[in-house]
Amino acid sequence: MTTILDRTCPAPTLASPERSAGPLAFGPIARVTGADEFVPLADGATVRYANFDYAASAPALVAVQEAVATALTEYASVHRGAGYLSQRSTARYEAARDIVADFIGARGDDHVIFTGNTTDSLNLLAACVPGEVVVLDCEHHANLLPWKRIGARVVSAPLSIEGTLKAVEAELARRPAALLSVTGASNVTGEVLPIRRLAALAHRHGARIAVDGAQLVPHRRISLRDSGVDYLAFSGHKLYAPFGSGVLVGRADWFDEAEPYRCGGGASYEVIGTPVAKSVEVAWHTGPARHEAGSPNVLGAVAIGAACEAIAALGESEIARHEHYLTDLLLGSLTRLDGVRPLRIWADSTDRVGIVAFTVDGYTPREVAEFLSSRYGIGVRDGKFCAHPVVNRLGCYDGAVRASLGLGTAENDVHRLVRALEDLTALPK
Ligand code: ALA
Repeated sequence: MTTILDRTCPAPTLASPERSAGPLAFGPIARVTGADEFVPLADGATVRYANFDYAASAPALVAVQEAVATALTEYASVHRGAGYLSQRSTARYEAARDIVADFIGARGDDHVIFTGNTTDSLNLLAACVPGEVVVLDCEHHANLLPWKRIGARVVSAPLSIEGTLKAVEAELARRPAALLSVTGASNVTGEVLPIRRLAALAHRHGARIAVDGAQLVPHRRISLRDSGVDYLAFSGHKLYAPFGSGVLVGRADWFDEAEPYRCGGGASYEVIGTPVAKSVEVAWHTGPARHEAGSPNVLGAVAIGAACEAIAALGESEIARHEHYLTDLLLGSLTRLDGVRPLRIWADSTDRVGIVAFTVDGYTPREVAEFLSSRYGIGVRDGKFCAHPVVNRLGCYDGAVRASLGLGTAENDVHRLVRALEDLTALPK
């Protein structure tokens, strides 16, 4: 069978894929690992990898890599020993908690719980919520399936932001709910939801609000205190800290009243065995420890803390300037390409993080992704992005291609991606 990769394909029209975009070209604004990695092309050449898959897993910041390397030199158990290195590791773990709290503007009495990732965080919250939950149908699976399991009411998001707010309000007015859980930014299209308005709306109807910040937190500063958001979940591996940790932060009462998410050491402060009655009595901690059973992932926590510090030091406006410029450049260029169709969920959305999903007429998403990789050394994600309902609803039953960018992306990378798609769409069909 002939595949796209067998078709006659002009040599890449870039004299070098590193074509200069001129003196004003935007470079990366932070050093990330793998930035100078060369990858093989189909013709045997090699080229510097252009990573457009930040939304799946962002590369580590070099600052994160260094913090982890330092922590490793003193690595020992956490919360489990009086030895000096155990004290050092415990202090690092708890310091990371404070850094995260500061980074996301946690209220003084919020709990910051370290988890495995966003999916883990939202499963934990689902195990704690003491009532009904309302979610939208445009969520990725992490913010849909944990709620579906506990019988959440799913609202179909209309094709406008204003319509979506009205639909949520109507559902909360129809029957009270304990929690509204919404994404901060779509992992498919990058479109940002008005979190403050949704928080006010939820509170007006007596519900709390959880925000899936997996795609928002790496790109925008969010303050729980200022926004009114009650719970926020996010992953280290999308926040330039790919060391297996995530975060769930929010109001303490539901966490302290719920059964521990996992049972085991660390979550319990006293366990009394009564051999005669053959029973075991357990007293559980309150606070974050209640839901952090087992030896904590101290390196994951250190990595997230280091990422938060590095991102805070870069400054919100610098990050916004960089990402808006590159995203607008990419979206504008793709919109002008014949046969390339960028996706959006909401006709009236005005803000998006550095994510652009699209289809290319005549090619499956996998064919496009393989072409970009084998001819241009570009990494994108293709498929349905663990968000099947919304991708299907956008009419993309075979999925789509998603290009996502971040702190390590340079303008030249965007030019390379656009040029590759120009070449693809110019191929004889
Ligand atoms: N939610 C992740 C993504 O969007 C897995 O790729």
